[in-house]
Amino acid sequence: MDSISGGAAIISGKDIAAGIRAGLKGQVLKMQEKNGVTPGLAVILVGDNPASKVYVRNKGKACEEVGIKSFQHTLPAETTEEGLLKLIDKLNRSKEVHGILVQLPLPFHINETRVIEAISPIKDVDGFHPYNLGRLVTGNPLLQPCTPYGVIKMLEAAAIDVSGKEAVIVGRSNIVGKPMALMLLRRNATVTVCHSRTRNIEEKIKRGDIVVAALGKPEFVKGEWIKSGAVVIDVGINRLPDGKLVGDVEFGGAAQRASWITPVPGGVGPMTIAMLLHNTVDAARMSLGV
Ligand code: GUN
Repeated sequence: MDSISGGAAIISGKDIAAGIRAGLKGQVLKMQEKNGVTPGLAVILVGDNPASKVYVRNKGKACEEVGIKSFQHTLPAETTEEGLLKLIDKLNRSKEVHGILVQLPLPFHINETRVIEAISPIKDVDGFHPYNLGRLVTGNPLLQPCTPYGVIKMLEAAAIDVSGKEAVIVGRSNIVGKPMALMLLRRNATVTVCHSRTRNIEEKIKRGDIVVAALGKPEFVKGEWIKSGAVVIDVGINRLPDGKLVGDVEFGGAAQRASWITPVPGGVGPMTIAMLLHNTVDAARMSLGV
């Protein structure tokens, strides 16, 4: 958390996520002792997208580490929407499964909205169901999307107060940008959401006390766009042709100006899975009414 990179202190998602997993491990043990229940997470993968396969494998490993039971359902790419909805219905009614995650993207013949809406909101550990997004909009969240929730945990771990600050989010995805805006707004930041049609994006980003880059373009946010002393959160993970992993922010230049910055890799990435585990334990607790 406190290593210095050209001026900015590093917020290590890797370390914070490890701390969260350790805490969850203790909570799982307690739940087993007190309630005789082991939290269970069902992960559904349709087709063989290579990146998705890696994510799903990593989710299984992380579950194992904290003592969450993981149920992996790998379905062929030709699976019908009806077939997938049937499996979700079965998992919605399973006593052993407290969280359900359908890995995105889905094959084109399957309607993503219908699938997300079929998941019981109390098992929706991705926080993508309109019920959960609606609860976030009204400021009374139940299960929250893992990546932006992980960003909030990183800001908290670094004791960064967002109240009254100018937060500039680059990217407006349902998975990151939009829920990130809502979470920062709830914490009294003044939020600007930039996207591919934003005019003078550089000017907007230069105003940010907190900049969250989540657009998926390697090193799009230039170091000189970062206000002196700003907090820079880089959600991007991009592989360059030479094999190097970079974020959506030009790290070296940004680190010269920022007060805090997240690295890639080892920044936001590890937080997403940690928050998925956190949501699964929360969902198990909700199912017990404790
Ligand atoms: N694909 C890329 N990110 C995510 C995520 O957070 N959840 C799911 N279900 N699929 C994804």
